[in-house]
Amino acid sequence: MTKAKVFQLALESNQIKRSDLSNFINAVTQGNDLMLRNVQRAAELLKTFRQVANDQASEQLRAFDLAQMLTEVIDTLAPSLKRYPHQLMLDIPYGIRMHSLPGALGQVTINLINNAYLHAFEGRENGALRISAKLVEQEVHLFFIDDGVGIPEENLKQLFQPFFTTKTGKGGTGLGMGIVENLVNKTLNGTISVSSEVGVGSCFEVHLPLNAPDAPLPDQNSGQT
Ligand SMILES: Nc1ncnc2c1ncn2[C@@H]1O[C@H](COP(=O)(O)OP(=O)(O)OP(=O)(O)O)[C@@H](O)[C@H]1O
Ligand SMILES: [Mg+2]
Repeated sequence: MTKAKVFQLALESNQIKRSDLSNFINAVTQGNDLMLRNVQRAAELLKTFRQVANDQASEQLRAFDLAQMLTEVIDTLAPSLKRYPHQLMLDIPYGIRMHSLPGALGQVTINLINNAYLHAFEGRENGALRISAKLVEQEVHLFFIDDGVGIPEENLKQLFQPFFTTKTGKGGTGLGMGIVENLVNKTLNGTISVSSEVGVGSCFEVHLPLNAPDAPLPDQNSGQT
């Protein structure tokens, strides 16, 4: 029986004591506080979802704080990442201001996180992925470092090739890294490189200009015969 029901029954049978009333008011106040806090959290989360979805759909250049934008992206992934026991660390100080395409950078981040969880930490109980950044003049250098299975030399060479996957028939299409490379090079005007050691882990290093040019770089294949 709920507290409200117990209280109602006591009220109806004229058995209410002053202490019952005061206990009931305390419980109601606590319940209201809890409800309010959760509604506020839900509203914050919705705002974050909307911002991330909007960035991905509109592809507009805007000013943003790198750590804040990546925190929002990771928050939207949290429900699916929670299913895994791995540790994701975002080690980027607030205050790195960029003027770029947050939707594209978010997409790159999501692909690299998903790859670490699906490939690097496959069958592991305690993978760790650390995302860090440093400023180098007018560039930001981002590092995605996992302590997973690593990538053998012969696969490293093909990593960015469309349809290269070690998960054929198990859900992989092999398009993720090609998309990442394209977004970094063409959309964000940056570069990406990867180093890896089998049994130790992988490091994806992304260099981006703090200020992306107004127009994305033209496709290298277009306009040429
Ligand atoms: N962090 C990583 N650790 C180990 N292997 C990786 C990592 N990231 C990528 N790989 C390897 O690179 C391959 C290609 O990655 P890519 O993201 O292009 O395709 P996919 O993840 O297999 O499929 P998709 O992303 O299209 O669903 C993967 O199949 C996997 O073998
Ligand atoms: Mg992938």
